[in-house]
Amino acid sequence: MSVLIKGGRIITAADDYVADVYVEDETITLIGESLDLSADAVIDASGKYLLPGLVDPHTHLDMPFGGTTTIDDVESGQTAAAFGGTTCHVDFIIQPQGSSFADAVTEWRAKANGKQVIDMGYHMAVTDLKEGGSLEELASLPDEGITSYKLFMAYKGALMVDDETLFRTMEVASQTGALVMVHAENGDAIDVLVKQALAEGKTEPKYHALTRPPETEGEATNRAIQLARVAGAPLYVVHVSCKESIEPIELAREKGWDVWGETCTQYFFVDYTFLERPNFEGAKYVYTPPPRAKENQEHLWNAVRTDTLSAISTDHCAFLWDGQKTLGKDDFSKIPNGGPGLENRLHMIHEFGVRAGRISLNRMVELLATAPAKLFGLYPKKGTIAVGSDADIVVFDPEKKLTITAARQHSKTDYNLYEGTEVTGSPEVVLLRGNVLVEGDELVASAGIGQYVARARFGRELRARSVVA
Ligand code: URP
Ligand code: ZN
Ligand code: ZN
Repeated sequence: MSVLIKGGRIITAADDYVADVYVEDETITLIGESLDLSADAVIDASGKYLLPGLVDPHTHLDMPFGGTTTIDDVESGQTAAAFGGTTCHVDFIIQPQGSSFADAVTEWRAKANGKQVIDMGYHMAVTDLKEGGSLEELASLPDEGITSYKLFMAYKGALMVDDETLFRTMEVASQTGALVMVHAENGDAIDVLVKQALAEGKTEPKYHALTRPPETEGEATNRAIQLARVAGAPLYVVHVSCKESIEPIELAREKGWDVWGETCTQYFFVDYTFLERPNFEGAKYVYTPPPRAKENQEHLWNAVRTDTLSAISTDHCAFLWDGQKTLGKDDFSKIPNGGPGLENRLHMIHEFGVRAGRISLNRMVELLATAPAKLFGLYPKKGTIAVGSDADIVVFDPEKKLTITAARQHSKTDYNLYEGTEVTGSPEVVLLRGNVLVEGDELVASAGIGQYVARARFGRELRARSVVA
């Protein structure tokens, strides 16, 4: 099967030029001006951008959490992703406590079987090194292409690990070439604050934020950075939401340490006041870390501009407002934590990042595709448009107008964080390894087309920035 994409404006993290792209057997084999080649399919991309298929390094599909299970399974979550121009993501396997890593991998692979619409890899969220997986087993995961370990420093009594587990995992990572990811919040302090709030009868959604102050994020971020330095492991801090955690990441990076940070789309747009919305509507915005005071949004834009933060993910962890978020109607601590976002990352960052003049088109591609692909061992197959790369390509119409609304979304949840937002610019055609996935409003390919991607170990070239202090 061959495809010729004619006359698109190719945008990578580094380049911006008009050319034709030729695809054979799922791979880009030629890029050039006015290519005179016959092809099984020809796509006219004049006036459109050609972006690499986006890579989302942080999603939670079909995940048991907060007394329920996320509403998007692999098929619905990946369909939403495809409409948003995301053709590859890395989801979290959560090691059930007492379970081996091998059993956890089997369980998560079964959830995806036959349902994949886009390509995917996995991180391993380590929850238990005492009764469950062993250090040896953890060390073997990169052999299967699971090359990142995630640790939750919060969610006490559920996913949270102690510092010993965190540090031991970091030591393993330093040996195996895996990247350590942390959810950085001080879970012990938050647990105290939550109990105190509930004892005082403070039950509404806004107390989710008021019991998780930004300092608890800053403290845990700094602790993780220092421990990773001792262990000699590379560190990636997920869903950075505020100045208090940006600052230690900035400092570590100034020193040349192997530290990277990610933020998520929602932190640029949703602030603390959303949690105060009446009639339990605030529960829609209960995710962790919580929406912060508005001034943090400018800190985040600065951080992504200056590469203090290197990636923007979605942390898609969708629940129904009516039926799942309502588990916490009388107690904010029982509201399942998480929000949707897989479908609208590109829409929102293009509109309010690129069109608003905050970041360039190249930087947008870097944040949404290239940097995640490099950090998580997917590059150069994913994350760029180049000869030899997978033909994961978004034909993006920069003039198309769209109003974001839950009524038209592909996620199964019943709300959208950006309801009513008007944007200009949307994917028109999305290709996965040369196969047309999305054309206009239609999902063209069937579930099963997506594949598991075994990821490479953490890149030596990324670590080369490290200087010994
Ligand atoms: O609220 C969130 N972010 N839910 C998903 C789990 C996590 O902490 O990433
Ligand atoms: Zn988290
Ligand atoms: Zn998450």
